[in-house]
Amino acid sequence: MVVDESLWARTALKRLPEGLWNWDELFARPAPVVIDIGCGNGRSTLHLAVNHPEWNVLGVDILPVVIRYATRRANQRGLVHARLAVIGGRELLERHVPLHSVTELHCYHPQPFYDQRFVERRLITPEFLSLAHRALVPGGRLVLQTDNPGYWKYISQVVPTFFDWHEQSGTWPDSPQGRTRREIIARSKGLPIFRGWGVARYGLSWDEALAQARQLPPPTFDADRRLQALDQLERDTGESPATEPRPSAKHPPRRSFRKPPRRRR
Ligand SMILES: C[S@@+](CC[C@H](N)C(=O)[O-])C[C@H]1O[C@@H](n2cnc3c(N)ncnc32)[C@H](O)[C@@H]1O
Repeated sequence: MVVDESLWARTALKRLPEGLWNWDELFARPAPVVIDIGCGNGRSTLHLAVNHPEWNVLGVDILPVVIRYATRRANQRGLVHARLAVIGGRELLERHVPLHSVTELHCYHPQPFYDQRFVERRLITPEFLSLAHRALVPGGRLVLQTDNPGYWKYISQVVPTFFDWHEQSGTWPDSPQGRTRREIIARSKGLPIFRGWGVARYGLSWDEALAQARQLPPPTFDADRRLQALDQLERDTGESPATEPRPSAKHPPRRSFRKPPRRRR
């Protein structure tokens, strides 16, 4: 609900701090931190913040246009415990998230990247999962959702190495309409939605997680180009452009999946 202008919040993280982020400073209060990666228009981020005033909620996306939209909506709803930032999910976890400092990580409908030239931009990789495990508090939760069967099959294959994995049948009980914009669009087209959540495995050290990640296959699955129409629909129907970039000098294809650098402890 939009609140009186005098109560509007300032949720934009415009200048991203260097190095590891101090959550208490960033949110101006201590509270459990929950991150929504690839938040798009912010429907899920706002949902988390509205339903959990006891959390500090961060939504991130690589597209400034969607973050601007999400920020405006969060500001107008007075969500003083929410922050929105333009940054990639992997970069965030790799460079800025202190060890075991996040209570939940959510990622709804990561870009499938149908074109084989861009599969290396897929977010969910074994290395990303090892970083997610490192970011989460022991027993912290990773929530994943997609409408892409190929992505889901891959997720189901690799996630259990790092997380005790549970598939969620049916919609999330707290949001029967759908937690995200993409979910609502996919459901309106009669597509299945795959949902799951995992608890970070206890006793898995960063070194072990990295070693395990190196044994797992990269996400080179076939995302089925026939499903690409959904991305177009998402682009056409509003403020959240789903990006499958065309090749350009600005977006050259990456040559190989990079391993995260080893961290001194
Ligand atoms: C298919 S949309 C889904 C948006 C939203 N989560 C939803 O379900 O409606 C995927 C989003 O992920 C973002 N994205 C793609 N790669 C990303 C990355 N490496 N880090 C963060 N966001 C990313 C895109 O800009 C896009 O907004």
